[in-house]
Amino acid sequence: GGPTRYEAESAVVSEGGTIDANHAGFSGTGFANGANAVGSYVEWQVTGPASALTFGYANGTAAARPVDISVDGTVVAAAVPFPATGAWTTWSTVARSVALPSGSHTVRVTATTADGPANLDYLDL
Ligand code: GCU
Repeated sequence: GGPTRYEAESAVVSEGGTIDANHAGFSGTGFANGANAVGSYVEWQVTGPASALTFGYANGTAAARPVDISVDGTVVAAAVPFPATGAWTTWSTVARSVALPSGSHTVRVTATTADGPANLDYLDL
């Protein structure tokens, strides 16, 4: 089959973040709207193996929203930009190759700017 999808509405969102459904076009029942703050994060519990992480997101602002991507507490990709998508209802993906071994893992994306993360829809493995 295709990738395994982990919806953001089933993820852990750090303080101040919400699960919203007010911008159409998302997968599942909603998306994670992380707080607009440095350190704001969304964290998924996933099952490997996998060779890539693909994040569905929207960013209706003009500026990219970078995040550090960590696996089991170790940053594997720093300040990965989530570029502007043109509207909060326009959804796109950012993917990174990663060697994720078998078993259960924690994948966290943590905002590196005061804008916080983009609106995050899902993580595909
Ligand atoms: C708007 C938008 C939110 C988004 C926020 C942001 O308020 O409606 O969905 O998360 O901007 O800038 O992060």
